[in-house]
This record gives sequence, C-alpha cells and structure tokens, in this order.
Amino acid sequence: MDDSGGVQMARTLKHAALCLMLLPRFLLAAVMLWLLDFLCIRRKVLLKMGERQDGPDDPPVCVSDYNKMFTWESLRAVWHGQKLDFLKSAHLGQAAPNTEVVLVQERKQRVVRQYADIADFLVVYIEEAHPSDGWVSSDAPYQIPKHRCLEDRLRAAQLMLTEIPGSNMVVDNMDNSSNAAYGAYFERLYIVMDETVVYQGGRGPEGYRISELKCWLEQYRKELLVSQTAVLCV
Ligand SMILES: *[C@@H]1O[C@H](CO)[C@@H](O)[C@H](O)[C@H]1NC(C)=O
Repeated sequence: MDDSGGVQMARTLKHAALCLMLLPRFLLAAVMLWLLDFLCIRRKVLLKMGERQDGPDDPPVCVSDYNKMFTWESLRAVWHGQKLDFLKSAHLGQAAPNTEVVLVQERKQRVVRQYADIADFLVVYIEEAHPSDGWVSSDAPYQIPKHRCLEDRLRAAQLMLTEIPGSNMVVDNMDNSSNAAYGAYFERLYIVMDETVVYQGGRGPEGYRISELKCWLEQYRKELLVSQTAVLCV
C-alpha cells in the first residue's frame, strides 16, 4: 500500500468510527421525527415543550401541522447538525475559537439592551436550517435557498437584519468555520469572556434557552456588583 492509500484508509476508518459513535443518537432523533409526523403526538410533544419553558424569553418551538418532519432532507439536516456538534472545537471553559466572519453592515447600535452595560451581543448568521431547497419549513418567515456564495449569504443576512434592526451581525464564511467550530447548526447561544467559552447553550431548537443565558448574565452582574462594593469598602 502506498502512502496516499494509507492516508485514505485512515480517513475511511475515522469516518466509520465517527458514524458508529453518532448512530445511536441519530437513530433516536430519526424515530422522534417519525413519531412527530403523527399529528396527535406532535401536538402533545409541542405542548409539553411549551410547558417546560422557563419563562417568556424562550421562543416556543413551533411546527405547523402540514410540515413533514421525517423526510430525506430532515434526516440529512439532523445528521449534519449532530456531526457538527460532535466535532466542534468550542468547549466550556476552553479557549473560544476565533473563526473568520464577514461583516454584514456597520450600524450604530441604538437599541438599549438589558445587558448592554456588561456584554456585547453578536449574531453570527450561519447556513440556513430550513432552506427552500432542503428541509423546507413553511413556518420560516422567508423562503431562502441554500447559500451558494457569500453574496447569497449576505443578502439573506440583510433580510434577517430587518427583523432585528440594530443588532451586530456578521456572517459565517463559506467554509462555514464558525458553524463547525461552535457546532452552531441549527442555532446556538454562547458567552465568551476573555477569549474563553464561559457559557455553552444546548443545540437548538430544543436546547436554545435565552432564559439560561440571562440567568448567567444576571449572576455575572451580581458578582460584579459585589466585587465593586468590596473595592469601595477598602
Ligand atoms: C457551507 O454551507 C453552504 C450552505 O449554506 C454549502 O453550500 C457549502 O458547501 C458549505 N461549505 C463547505 C466548505 O462545506
């Protein structure tokens, strides 16, 4: 076997090991999606998920009745997401990957945010979770096909900016480096402090919890106040 054959072999083995490791989780998700296509089950699950919400901050997961959950495209999307999650380089307490992003538009931030005094917010727009030529969702506000070039992605990000004006937004590069490093697909929340990941949210949509993020920030603000008071007392 020559050298390139060996490399090829190692790659194939690595891929096979990865597939084996991800298989149980994937099969579970596939069964869930299949079950969710029975409307009575779907309504019950969505209701349960709604009840579990910690507060009004977390957007409820909404799926209209006529959206199919168990399709070739949905399985591909779930597999893709689980693989990204497994291979991501961002881990709690470790250095935050400094991936390349592209600025969408410079805009003066005028929205007064609850935590603007202690944190800067940045939206990194990644690949579409529900592209119109993939796992289609009629619940999405816009029907956007898969981005084929950076211009496609920037155009779609502009649409998103109109929904949340004043936010700081960048887009992932076309290598999808941020998505890969942070296991961001479908959506995910992070807090980075001093270049370290200090909060890592779960994989969206189920794990996407703004309430959790707020909780972390509240706690942080409290600690800041305490340390400031301590300094003043000296
Ligand atoms: C990045 O994601 C886009 C979909 O938005 C896809 O078309 C492209 O092939 C991906 N790039 C790489 C290097 O995988």
